[in-house]
Amino acid sequence: MNGAASGLIEAIKTAIGPHDKWDLIPTGTSGWWKYGSGGISAWGTLCGVPNGCIAVLGLMNKQGVLMPDGKTNIMDQLMLYYSQSNFPVEAYEQSLYDLSQDAVYGWTSDYAPIPLPDEDVLAHTVSGSPLCHISVSKWADAAGVNLDKTAYGGHMKEDRCGKITADMAALTAEFLNNLALPEYLTYPAETTACMSCHNQLSDVSKYPAQQGKMECGECHDMPPSHGRTKGPK
Ligand code: HEC
Ligand code: HEC
Repeated sequence: MNGAASGLIEAIKTAIGPHDKWDLIPTGTSGWWKYGSGGISAWGTLCGVPNGCIAVLGLMNKQGVLMPDGKTNIMDQLMLYYSQSNFPVEAYEQSLYDLSQDAVYGWTSDYAPIPLPDEDVLAHTVSGSPLCHISVSKWADAAGVNLDKTAYGGHMKEDRCGKITADMAALTAEFLNNLALPEYLTYPAETTACMSCHNQLSDVSKYPAQQGKMECGECHDMPPSHGRTKGPK
């Protein structure tokens, strides 16, 4: 979270020059954004990367901007991008490596020269969820590593987290510069179907409402017959 938010805020400070408000916002090692690390105090809830990007959109009062489809806003797009991308995204590898050579904050590992070239990345995975726990666990399982902070797997995880940070901060910067997003993402068909009954405006005499836009199938395994017919069983 701190990497994404501080990186964007430092870029904004550079772009706008001396400013009586932005100059007061602490970044980097004394940044306001460190609480989001590991899905907030290592609870594995919301990944810090979308949290940090969206925090900066909030500072710019851009968080609610609707996409041309009128169905999603930029926050939804960043959450969908996080949930649906096959991380780490390959395209960033060389430019990240080049940038890391003169980075302000070091990005090094005792175990491997990170950022790793893409061919050395142990696994690319789609999280299907904005939750840090699910995202890193699916990746660690596919990569066959243990997430122990002091060991090889932990350092390989840092490579992945760092790349996701750079990738999503870049996407957020494109949006802040009014560049068109590469594509508008949509909710998976299954989630849309579930939400057509289970939403906060639904008829609660028929359907229990729920709050959320995450992929329902990550946690619920409903029988195929569920939801086929309207009204209580
Ligand atoms: C056509 C409307 C409809 C759709 C679509 C639908 N549901 Fe439901 N759902 C219901 C109704 C009605 C109930 C309450 C009665 C029952 O349990 O069947 C319910 C209950 C639930 C419950 C709480 C009770 C339980 O059985 O655990 C969960 C969880 C749930 N639905 C999840 C889902 C998920 C996940 C999807 C998408 C895969 C989905 N629903 C799609 C109508 C729907
Ligand atoms: C991170 C896990 C997770 C995700 C993702 C998730 N749910 Fe749930 N949901 C739960 C848990 C846990 C409960 C409470 C236990 C139960 O009813 O199964 C629950 C309960 C519900 C209920 C019952 C609410 C009530 O008042 O009885 C509905 C309906 C429901 N979920 C629908 C959905 C739909 C629709 C989605 C996708 C948009 C979804 N859930 C995504 C974990 C999740």
